[in-house]
Amino acid sequence: MTDRTPTVDQSQPSIARVYDYLLGGRDNYAVDREIGDFFIRDLPGSAAIAFANRHALTRAVRAMSRDGISQFVDLGSGLPTADNVHQVAQRHNAATRVVYVDNDPAVLAHGRALLAADEGTEVIQADLREPERILRHRDVRRLIDFDEPVGVVFSAVLHHLNDDERPADLVRWWVDRVPSDSRVYISHFRSGANEETRLAEQKLHGTFGRGRWRTDEEIAGLFGGLELLEPGLVNCSLWRPEPAPGDRAAGDGAGRRGLTAWEQLISCALARRP
Ligand SMILES: C[S@@+](CC[C@H](N)C(=O)[O-])C[C@H]1O[C@@H](n2cnc3c(N)ncnc32)[C@H](O)[C@@H]1O
Repeated sequence: MTDRTPTVDQSQPSIARVYDYLLGGRDNYAVDREIGDFFIRDLPGSAAIAFANRHALTRAVRAMSRDGISQFVDLGSGLPTADNVHQVAQRHNAATRVVYVDNDPAVLAHGRALLAADEGTEVIQADLREPERILRHRDVRRLIDFDEPVGVVFSAVLHHLNDDERPADLVRWWVDRVPSDSRVYISHFRSGANEETRLAEQKLHGTFGRGRWRTDEEIAGLFGGLELLEPGLVNCSLWRPEPAPGDRAAGDGAGRRGLTAWEQLISCALARRP
């Protein structure tokens, strides 16, 4: 299976590039910045969702690495940013292998450039909704040993699937293919049933035709019968906060200072088979 040379359409906004813009990245175009500026200008503070999500992912990857996970499939990985999964995990175990999967061609283009020198890491362009295709991909077969525990990462991606695309079944599909002792990490937009959620959901829907803010019960349902590891499903900023040196935003006493309304709109959990 060969990935074609990625063609990036600069006239249409993309989720990956808007998110990159919100995180302060440069891999975006005017159409993306227009959407990003709506969030920054009209929903001030909303970029905190992206940062809280990203920092929680870093902590979750660190936790998985400490638990002995040395291979990851990162589904809906997004554009390369600071502290990508392989960089965080390889700090713990240099032999860690990572396959990044995203359906956005910009991710493939920028990811390839970042990963050119890293033999243990690949980025592939594929749709999360076609898991068989991902599993069969030569780079997945080459880098991931499905007889060994795998970290399956769904970070801020399942909310881009509508209910009729059966996100819980997709999670289950991967759980059924990885050995016990594997880990599943999910972070997800959480509906606050408030004005912030309504406006943000409306904007995402209006722009991309998707973006589903689920309730705590609905997010918990995505894990099926998996066992949620401590502290369970919580707002990302409260998931095992461990501020890194100089990193004031990474759960920096979020429990003490209280969460902003925006930080309450993204939750996550790490799970394994019971
Ligand atoms: C909000 S970003 C999250 C990026 C990264 N996982 C993180 O948490 O920082 C969502 C990513 O999911 C990707 N995505 C959305 N729907 C997808 C699908 N059906 N298949 C693969 N990737 C998808 C988007 O292109 C985007 O890069």
